[in-house]
Amino acid sequence: MSEINNTLVVVGVQWGDEGKGKMTDYLGQKADVVVRYQGGNNAGHTITFGGNKYALQSIPSGVFNPHIKNVMANGMVINPKAAIGELEGLKERGITDFQLFISDRAAVIMPYHIALDGAYEALKGGKQIGTTKKGIGPAYCDKYSRVGIRIGDLIDPEYFAERLRDALTQKNLELRALGLEEFDFDTLYKEFLAYGEILRPYICDTSILLNKEIEEGKKVLFEGAQGVMLCIENGTYPFVTSSSPTAASVPLGAGVAPRYINRALGICKAYTTRVGAGPFPTELEGELADYIRERGHEYGTVTGRPRRVGYLDAVGLRHACRISGINYLSIMLFDVLTGVETLKICTGYELDGKVIDYVPATLSALERCKPIYIEMDGWKEEIEDVRDFDALPATAKAYLRKIEELTNTEIAVVSVGPDRTQTIMIKDIF
Ligand code: IMP
Repeated sequence: MSEINNTLVVVGVQWGDEGKGKMTDYLGQKADVVVRYQGGNNAGHTITFGGNKYALQSIPSGVFNPHIKNVMANGMVINPKAAIGELEGLKERGITDFQLFISDRAAVIMPYHIALDGAYEALKGGKQIGTTKKGIGPAYCDKYSRVGIRIGDLIDPEYFAERLRDALTQKNLELRALGLEEFDFDTLYKEFLAYGEILRPYICDTSILLNKEIEEGKKVLFEGAQGVMLCIENGTYPFVTSSSPTAASVPLGAGVAPRYINRALGICKAYTTRVGAGPFPTELEGELADYIRERGHEYGTVTGRPRRVGYLDAVGLRHACRISGINYLSIMLFDVLTGVETLKICTGYELDGKVIDYVPATLSALERCKPIYIEMDGWKEEIEDVRDFDALPATAKAYLRKIEELTNTEIAVVSVGPDRTQTIMIKDIF
């Protein structure tokens, strides 16, 4: 069997919102297939080109290139109503010529999942996760409890009736206990059968399609949502999402063999942000945080919430690079740091008087971690028009080299603005 080297996974290495949409779109210009393999419409991928800005939630970022096959694979949780809304939104803006394939095995987010997401958060008192309230967690729970509805069920009316009846028996009991409104079988059944009919032309076995494309040597880009620090297995549990946005999750979530996945590009902001609650050792407050938030437009694409802002955390990055086998990094929003006089990078944590260089597993330990910083000089020059690494200010280059040294990972791309063209390609990796 010949060696496969035509696949690339794009992985967020922080808490999401690193700019994966821009990189998937940029690299996607060379791709034949773009695949979402986990998460759902909790993601917000912003893509800017030709003076237009598009925000995608569950539709893969390759949708703007008519020659690309876009796959929503089995590891996703899909809200059919929201996905149809996204497709209509694209059509209204003239994006009509696209190829989309939705896995018949992907889980469906039902309205009761959204109701339960809100209710579980309310029950947590002051300890809310700060979820996107899109029903992501409850939909994954049902999948693993084996009462989930799958996309393929929506186009098989008799079987769907059976599945929905079984699910509602459980769900309505739970909703009643929580004092929430129950869902009526007939109403939901009709509504979701109608969604099934709209989506029918896109629904297929995407694993067969993907394996064929990979084996034929086509270029396949796997687009992760969220980031490794939000991973259900390796993130800052319980302040995480309910899926794994790592490269390891691709084979399972897309139905391809692990041997087909051999390269991962880590998408990393030049600083750190986080939306929602949970530990954030390098968090900043005050003037510098506001400066970065405003220059970086750090407000959630999905929820509009202001993002928490902090210095770059090399401890977290090493954790993410190790777990996701990151081969190269892409440093995003680098232009945002112009004008910051002194930049800091966290190189270790002090935990109960000891210096550690890893991310501890428990929340209580992570909350006690105090960052240990190195300081570097910033730069004053605006860099959004720079297209060549050598043309960057010396201190900017030094900051990038330091990131490589601290993460032991080569930087292949530096992004200096939201547009496709505002990209410094140091190494062609796809
Ligand atoms: P959920 O995914 O809606 O269950 O939310 C769980 C946590 O993940 C919350 O802290 C969210 O803010 C965070 N989260 C989910 N999706 C994204 C994303 O695309 N970017 C950044 N944070 C996210």
